[in-house]
Amino acid sequence: MKNKTVFKNPKAKFYHKLINNEAVYNDMSINRYKKDVANSVNYQSKDKLKNLDILKKKINSIKKCELKKNATNMVFGDGNPSSSIMIIGEGPGANEDKEGKPFVGRAGKLLDKMLESIKLNRKNVYISNVVNFRPPMNRKPSEVEINRYLPFLNKHIEIINPKILLLLGSTALNAIIGNEIIISKARGKWVNKKIGNANPEVISSFHPAFLMRQPDQKKYAWEDLKMIRKKISQLKIKLND
Ligand code: URA
Repeated sequence: MKNKTVFKNPKAKFYHKLINNEAVYNDMSINRYKKDVANSVNYQSKDKLKNLDILKKKINSIKKCELKKNATNMVFGDGNPSSSIMIIGEGPGANEDKEGKPFVGRAGKLLDKMLESIKLNRKNVYISNVVNFRPPMNRKPSEVEINRYLPFLNKHIEIINPKILLLLGSTALNAIIGNEIIISKARGKWVNKKIGNANPEVISSFHPAFLMRQPDQKKYAWEDLKMIRKKISQLKIKLND
């Protein structure tokens, strides 16, 4: 039977709770080994959400950034954080800035169609961008801006811990893989990349905004999508994650 401590002073109660005195002073042994296996997945996803929240706050506290100063909303991520498939775009546009969600404009509609063609949707992928605030006039983020957000992007990938990472367009490709490669050469090839504790199979493909301007290139994007579909079955990824 647990003896409840009675407090007259509310401050004493606060500090008592803070250091978990109940566990320190009661006469029951602490079972450090018994793991709640059934709930371990929940603990993991709870941790994931907590870590994503911490990351979000860190990004929101960035100072002296022109992107942040001019943006309406931060665009952090969308989709299923427990998915094994993560997609990285370049940066928010006007619609994304307004709604605070990635890929909700015209390029986003095309991305949804591309995903649908390989039986995926936003419930079984997770989406983010290289930069989390809209570059003014939809310009490309500069090298300095990309480098400012890259540690956050790496952390984001590490937290999601995807098995497959899809990089859409040259900004995402160059940020994650390196500046010396060009998208038309790198697309449609798997590379294994260690990002913190994450170790995803990475593939790059054309950005949907580019495909809207150059629809004749869609045939290559389709090849890349089929490779992703194949990898999903090779890695036995469950899509109802
Ligand atoms: N283009 C991107 O790269 N990301 C978005 O979120 C929207 C458009």
